[in-house]
Amino acid sequence: EASQSLRGKHVLISAGPTQEALDPVRYITNHSSGKQGYAIARAALACGADVTLVTGPTKLADIQGVTMIKVTSACDMFEAMKSQYDWADYVIMAAAVSDYRPEVVFDQKMKNKDENITFRFVKNPDILEYLGAHKTHQIICGFAMETENLDQNARHKLETKNCDMLIANNLFTKGAGFNTETNVVTLLTRKENIHLPKLTKEELGYKILEVLQNLEKEQKHV
Ligand code: PMT
Repeated sequence: EASQSLRGKHVLISAGPTQEALDPVRYITNHSSGKQGYAIARAALACGADVTLVTGPTKLADIQGVTMIKVTSACDMFEAMKSQYDWADYVIMAAAVSDYRPEVVFDQKMKNKDENITFRFVKNPDILEYLGAHKTHQIICGFAMETENLDQNARHKLETKNCDMLIANNLFTKGAGFNTETNVVTLLTRKENIHLPKLTKEELGYKILEVLQNLEKEQKHV
């Protein structure tokens, strides 16, 4: 049962993978389906928020009532997130952003004439880190996809990216991570680690929004 607890609030969410082009027919990507980010957007909408969803390429249907901004690469996603940042009250980066992109994008399809080929990759902007460094009033939440030392690596990301909350999921936990209907996560705030049981991605969406609202209240009253 959704309350209207987010009425008047702007929630900015990213979802899905990014695609980094090699040439006009090939790209590098990852296994994100967009399900987690879209589920958070549905939860925020049901709580009465104005919701903008910046999404990489996914197979999911648009959400009626949510402003959809479709992007392809990490650089596109960076521009879209910056353009929406000023008015956002809550920002949730659920997207799986490619850390690197090919240094050169060929204009024509590459020929298969060489036995071996080598690519050089350059670093993409870290969108969450940028947003954390340029925070004015926003409450910021990132995700961390880990395969080992979950709590430790996630706490490091919380601090270096100046987030208010980080949600850690482990690729190797059953029912967690890419393309599942459920997720198993730890919510890390500045004060504590909250281990959650297996939840649907939408149930987790409501939980995240509830904790973010509590963090905002605490920040205002301290
Ligand atoms: O889409 P689904 O199939 O439902 O799967 C959900 C999910 C596994 C993709 C999601 O739960 C998740 O964990 N998303 C973040 C995955 C990730 O890229 O983790 P990371 O540890 O590499 O990045 C940490 C944080 O920094 C993330 O919030 C990420 O969005 C952000 N980031 C990363 C790199 C970059 N260049 N810019 C960023 O903003």
